[in-house]
Amino acid sequence: MSERIFLASTNEGKRAEFAALLAEHGIELGPSIPYPEVEEDADDYLGNAALKAAALREELLRRGTPATLFADDSGLEIDALAGAPGVRSARYGGLDLAWPQRRAHLLAALSDVPGRRRTARFFCALLAIDEGGRRFEGFGATRGSIALVERGTAGFGYDPLFLPEGETRTFAEMSAAEKARSSHRARALRALVEAMRR
Ligand code: IMP
Repeated sequence: MSERIFLASTNEGKRAEFAALLAEHGIELGPSIPYPEVEEDADDYLGNAALKAAALREELLRRGTPATLFADDSGLEIDALAGAPGVRSARYGGLDLAWPQRRAHLLAALSDVPGRRRTARFFCALLAIDEGGRRFEGFGATRGSIALVERGTAGFGYDPLFLPEGETRTFAEMSAAEKARSSHRARALRALVEAMRR
């Protein structure tokens, strides 16, 4: 596979994580390419990743610079909420909420749920398209639970609330390298790179 890959995302937290993870596989993350925004309204993660990947591919073709690219979609699934917010994680509580408010909204939804029933998982789906239009997929999950209060300042999104299984620290209390060891994104990327190199 090519040694450089473009990512259909402008989320700086994700881009930074993917850049570090790709480097471990000897692959460089290409610069951020703006592409027309797509509504992520598919029913599942892979569907949303496909929408983003197709939009970036179209933009690269329009520029006359076809290249290997990938897109991700991820979410937090909480057992006590029947898997919510899931594929709607980025919009949970309303599109216009800032992250501290969104996390507060989630804690409020779980206010009656005791620690042992706050189990959850992060899930990540990746879809890559190479220059020739071939598609590859990779999936990864990380089990854990939702903390009673938020802790830590690293990472992004729901990181201050997520305690990976067997850990006493949230993702936001870990270094990027520590998070990468058990993150859903790292696992999905490993699977994707394996599929592309097969
Ligand atoms: P999307 O994949 O960009 O559609 O968004 C998924 C949502 O889940 C985003 O709002 C993320 O902030 C959140 N999310 C996904 N992965 C992580 C993570 O590793 N840490 C914290 N939040 C995450």
